[in-house]
Amino acid sequence: MRAEAERRRTFAVISHPDAGKSTLTEALALHARVISEAGAVHGKAGRKSTVSDWMEMEKARGISVSSTALQFNYTSEEAPRGEDGSETVNVINLVDTPGHSDFSEDTYRVLTAVDAAVMLIDAAKGLEPQTLKLFQVCRHRGIPVITVINKWDRPGRTPLELLDEIQERIGLTPTPLFWPVGIAGDFRGLLRRGEDGAAVEYIKFTRTAGGAKIAPEEHLSPDEALSREGDTWAEAAEESELLSASGQDHDQELFLAGQTSPVIFASAMLNFGVRQILDTLVALAPAPGARLDVDGNPRSVDDPFSAVVFKVQAGMDTAHRDRLAFMRVVSGVFERGMVVTHAQTGKPFATKYALTVFGRERSTVENAYPGDVVGLVNATALAPGHTLFVDRKVEFPPIPSFAPEHFAILRAESASKYKQFRKAVDQLDSEGVVQILRNDIRGDASPVMAAVGPMQFEVVAARMKAEYNVDPKIEPLGYSLARRTDAASVDELNRQRGVEVFTRSDGVLLALVSDKWRLQYIQKELPELTLEPLVAAT
Ligand code: G4P
Repeated sequence: MRAEAERRRTFAVISHPDAGKSTLTEALALHARVISEAGAVHGKAGRKSTVSDWMEMEKARGISVSSTALQFNYTSEEAPRGEDGSETVNVINLVDTPGHSDFSEDTYRVLTAVDAAVMLIDAAKGLEPQTLKLFQVCRHRGIPVITVINKWDRPGRTPLELLDEIQERIGLTPTPLFWPVGIAGDFRGLLRRGEDGAAVEYIKFTRTAGGAKIAPEEHLSPDEALSREGDTWAEAAEESELLSASGQDHDQELFLAGQTSPVIFASAMLNFGVRQILDTLVALAPAPGARLDVDGNPRSVDDPFSAVVFKVQAGMDTAHRDRLAFMRVVSGVFERGMVVTHAQTGKPFATKYALTVFGRERSTVENAYPGDVVGLVNATALAPGHTLFVDRKVEFPPIPSFAPEHFAILRAESASKYKQFRKAVDQLDSEGVVQILRNDIRGDASPVMAAVGPMQFEVVAARMKAEYNVDPKIEPLGYSLARRTDAASVDELNRQRGVEVFTRSDGVLLALVSDKWRLQYIQKELPELTLEPLVAAT
């Protein structure tokens, strides 16, 4: 069991739309030989579409709720061999963050299922808003981050500028493992940095037609590199040494503590630096480890089976009209068909239909180990944050709900459909699709939805229509902040302009406030009122 956990790496890519996540996913799949040719994502019309087009399908249907995991084996040439000379085959689980320009609760939840993240940055654009938000979630959860600066084949900023931005804006110390040889737009290869930043070798890449194949690599000594690349190499080597002078060298402990981030320069499109990303994940990213339960006791990877549900997805496939719950295995072996206990209800749950899902392909899973992601079919009772286990009971802490920033009123289209409407609201609330807020003034027929991203409201509308045959009306509500309050503050808060107090379904009292200036004003004028920030995602 330990060996199975030890060889696994479970991670997600965090990025802003267009940074190249789909292209990189494909490039990783190409390097792991899951696919034989890249080009579907960034290919031109008429080419065969492959695994990652599911996101496109979801976009076309107006609900981008995908969160799947791509699992593949990868053998790193650089990993140490066993005593008998055998190679280690690693199992990589790439958990996909929803690929939509909007951004919602699901994006966050995926990050509860991973042990590491790859922060993908466009070399010309640097840190972008969505990357920043997702990075904050990683920091909050203590997930170590590997930074990949992508699109180095295109004109962009200087590498030092990009590193400064990371250091200054998010306080993460970048520690490059590889340094680009050639400015952005003239990507020749990578300098591998050794201790003290001295160049160990030069990895020179050769382009392949359309970037469809793995880019051939030549490994040259620093002297050979100098005679091949001249000043371009000398400049890279000098910059690399400069970094060491400012202490930007890799330190595994600081990386795991989330204080530093190894950096790799790459071109996902040309497949330059992609093997180095995989090798870095294998060498540095943590393997699945123990997870603390609600009482703070660790569930170790070799304890009996347990898993956490991090995502529920309904109506993914219109032909199947099913409902999938994705769980991440925490401990023990999962065997298809085993009957597990659902910790929240104490009820048994049969896992006859367990799937791995990636793109359009679905295949049945027989076994899964810590770090793996499994989709469970027809999992009506399961919601994000729920625990499944066998033998020794365990319950993991719920997934934190992040501070909502978008609010909307939900109304039933007609009184005759009210019963169905109510049922749908309760179901979507319990699944955590949105947070449902109520107060006496608005009544039960028009609850308020609260979400991190407005896309969730569309998901609610689409699901109510598809699954409950009700067509709700959704009206945006002019608040932009939520604060936790208490019973003693309610009346005074409700008297304030731009404020309204609600009860969330878990009983928490939330004051919605129109904007931060209004909030600051109230806090100053009425300091006795309770207005506590919720776990902020941004
Ligand atoms: P996303 O999933 O993060 O949203 O990004 P995606 O992979 O779809 O990539 C967004 C655009 O960036 C695509 O261009 C893609 O080809 C391009 N791209 C991704 N990685 C690289 C890279 O390393 N170098 C360069 N030069 N481009 C890259 P597009 O214009 O939308 O599509 P297409 O014209 O390439 O088909």
